[in-house]
Amino acid sequence: MAKKNELMKEITALCKRRGFIFQSSEIYGGVASTYDYGPLGIELKRNVKELWWREMVQLRPDIEGIDSAIIMHPQVWIASGHVDEFVDPLIECKICHHRFKADDLSNLEQCPDCGTRGSFTEPRLFHLMFQTFMGPIQSEENIAYLRPETAQGIYVNFENVRTPARQKVPFGIAQIGKAFRNEITPGNFTFRTREFEQMEMQFFVHPNEADKWFDHWMEQRRAWYMSLGFKTENLNFHVHEKLAHYARAAVDIEYDFPFGRSELEGIHNRGDFDLTRHQEHSGKSMEYFDPVTEERFIPYIIETSGGVDRCILALLIDAYEEEPDLEDPKNNRIVLKFHPKVAPVKVGIFPLVKRDGMPEIAREIETELRRHFMVFYDDGGSIGRRYRRQDEAGTPFCVTVDGQTLEDKTVTIRERDTMAQVRVAIDDIPKMVRGYTENWQRDKGLS
Ligand code: GAP
Repeated sequence: MAKKNELMKEITALCKRRGFIFQSSEIYGGVASTYDYGPLGIELKRNVKELWWREMVQLRPDIEGIDSAIIMHPQVWIASGHVDEFVDPLIECKICHHRFKADDLSNLEQCPDCGTRGSFTEPRLFHLMFQTFMGPIQSEENIAYLRPETAQGIYVNFENVRTPARQKVPFGIAQIGKAFRNEITPGNFTFRTREFEQMEMQFFVHPNEADKWFDHWMEQRRAWYMSLGFKTENLNFHVHEKLAHYARAAVDIEYDFPFGRSELEGIHNRGDFDLTRHQEHSGKSMEYFDPVTEERFIPYIIETSGGVDRCILALLIDAYEEEPDLEDPKNNRIVLKFHPKVAPVKVGIFPLVKRDGMPEIAREIETELRRHFMVFYDDGGSIGRRYRRQDEAGTPFCVTVDGQTLEDKTVTIRERDTMAQVRVAIDDIPKMVRGYTENWQRDKGLS
């Protein structure tokens, strides 16, 4: 376990060092469990979100996208059950005053922080939704909530999306966006935070077809995580026996994090719970009329609900390797072996020396390659040190401009994982990077 804790520390330090993720408001001492994504982190996140959107919206004629508001009508959260049900039992150690979720401590008698035995207060319910006020008057009737999930913005817009998009059941609506939960025990870096991003898709089906679609989405989502390059042995399916108030069936896709096996995404059969509740509370019909069978019914919903930040954290952990450095046998190298399609930067560009026309050509290559993908120009320090920095950034290729480049317009290109170097024509770099990216999983024996 000590080694595993060490790994989380190493990854947190690497994220700060390389500009993936760091503490929010750090110069003021930071805000507990709130993080900012730096230049590499945001590219990694953008790649994951774009791959999700491509898979869930672009390639699917039966799914539409939406971007709904974070602050919704407060009635939404009464209808959804969040106002009444979205609570956690909180207990406090009477000695050190640390607070814990009662569920987490069900098997413990003594405070994990100060070690005192049997010193907890009785559990009291703690609300997980963040409250704010709409308008200038901070009164009870102006209470509004920051959404704790993006899903409700989809349910209330079922007809607003379906009609103009000319969709018929079965069809889905997808959304990526921020969600907020006042978690009692945030932690494990970005695993559980109070502000996070979700990628959710709600698929509306005939009740008789719910089981079939549930199985379909379980398989689709498993395949998507595999396509990101995760090691198969680190992914797991967990079938829920205890279900949330809205669910008829639930499966989690889990990842073996260093702190234990934990959820990346949930797939739920939510039945007609959500649309029925919104029909009751809004007074608007949520029924669907099937023009072929002439049947009128409230669709069941199959939900796929994943966390962007958890996916990013799992990718960082999965890609992290410390191994003997073949280029510098006295040292180890730290390398993030991302699938090139999620890697924040695709190519590092180095002039061998800062003279003899090499920086100029390297800059020209940079300008050309920027049209294709994210690149990073680096002329600082030895080539070896520049490789090490790009290894830690997970950059799959590094291009070095040298004396020969001036003569024949070729460069050496070094591959991150094998560290093999080949000479290629400058014009062939984009094609080579694309080909390598497309075949990466096959070549690694991952598909
Ligand atoms: N609409 C259903 C729903 O929100 P959930 O299991 O509560 O279901 C879905 O959340 C996903 O959102 C989780 O699998 C996780 O990836 C992410 N998530 C939930 N709470 C989170 C938190 N506090 N910090 C980071 N990610 C979180």
